[in-house]
Amino acid sequence: SQFWLRGEFPADPVRFDPETGMWNVYGHAEALKTLSDPKVFSSDTVRLVPPEMAPDKDLFVDGNLLQMDPPDHKKLRTLVSHAFTPKVVADLEPRIAALTNELLDAVDGEESMELVTSLAYPLPVIVIAELLGVPASDRTLFKQWVDTMLNNSQQRSLIKQTEEDKKASDESVEQLKNLVNYLSEHVDDRRRNPREDLLTKLVEAEVDGEKLTQNEVVNFANVLLLAGHITTTMLLGNTMLCLDSHPDEYRRVREDRALLPATIEESLRFLSPFALVARATMTEVELGGQAIPADSMLAIWIAAANRDPRTFEDPGTFDPARTHNPHLAFGRGIHFCIGAPLARLEGKTALGILLDRFPDLRTDPGVPPSFIPSPNMTGVNELRLLLK
Ligand code: HEM
Repeated sequence: SQFWLRGEFPADPVRFDPETGMWNVYGHAEALKTLSDPKVFSSDTVRLVPPEMAPDKDLFVDGNLLQMDPPDHKKLRTLVSHAFTPKVVADLEPRIAALTNELLDAVDGEESMELVTSLAYPLPVIVIAELLGVPASDRTLFKQWVDTMLNNSQQRSLIKQTEEDKKASDESVEQLKNLVNYLSEHVDDRRRNPREDLLTKLVEAEVDGEKLTQNEVVNFANVLLLAGHITTTMLLGNTMLCLDSHPDEYRRVREDRALLPATIEESLRFLSPFALVARATMTEVELGGQAIPADSMLAIWIAAANRDPRTFEDPGTFDPARTHNPHLAFGRGIHFCIGAPLARLEGKTALGILLDRFPDLRTDPGVPPSFIPSPNMTGVNELRLLLK
């Protein structure tokens, strides 16, 4: 279904799909328009989801930055921006490097390693858990919950559901509840025993003289924990895969680490971890030559927009040296990814160390990589690398 990965691009950049009931936006210019105009293209998409498809929505929506519109979005976003200042992120570099080295020590001397299990999953989840202040050792729990959610995220529509989708969605909601309960206990604890961590900051924070509710703190922490690791896991795996399949680029970055940041940006464009974001129209609107009614659900395929030939020269070529790369992998506008500087730093630090430590690193031709089984995500699930 991810036709853009096959080098195909539709003539009509905006298209209604009667089967899903959603409007697909594929074009870069059209995607940018939606992301830049939250008054018309609202992030509060849950209001369009039939109640039977979102039975527990009250539990998960409060405090979920991704689903909020101005002015509430601004308040919460300002608050968390204080926790993610450039300095806070930059100061994490030595810790990220130490963790990477520790994780790689465990496989040093082996013939091969599986990148996701050994590095790409544990690194970002430990970093975000430490920032929040929950025990990083609980990451096997998170992984169990998150894997079920990822395996179940095959649903093609946000507003229509098959029986099979319903079963998968019920299972995911159960896992989400586990995560919410888990975080809720930690938040309760911080109310009694404040610490130097992000959870305590969220508990104590005041927005316009008001504190966040328990639900808001928990959901916000939940978004950070989830958004803060699976995407970065994909970024690390995808970049390694891109390099391995492009020997000239691989050789260049091996010789010059200063090329890593541009390589990471190109990997984000070429294999965008978050393939889509959703929006709901507040009014009737014209987009890409189509008249979209009010209260329509949009699937904005940023992964497709990132291969739009009207914006990117030779979009099907992985080219870290491209001079114009306005990719949308981190979104755009008011919801632009808060964790982008952290994800970029983790990518640069971890991949740099990986290349330094293993001069012969390459994929194992006998074990093909596997991918996350979801149309909404583009990410390596397993990548076996030869170390010697
Ligand atoms: C928002 C992608 C890493 C936290 C977003 C959005 C995208 C995205 C596309 C915009 C969603 C929208 O407009 O509806 C990614 C990718 C990542 C990554 C590809 C890694 C390669 C992270 C990390 C964190 C994080 C490490 C946390 C530490 C968030 C949050 C938002 C967000 C809280 C919501 C911002 C808002 O609504 O104002 N991310 N993300 N992300 N991301 Fe990331």
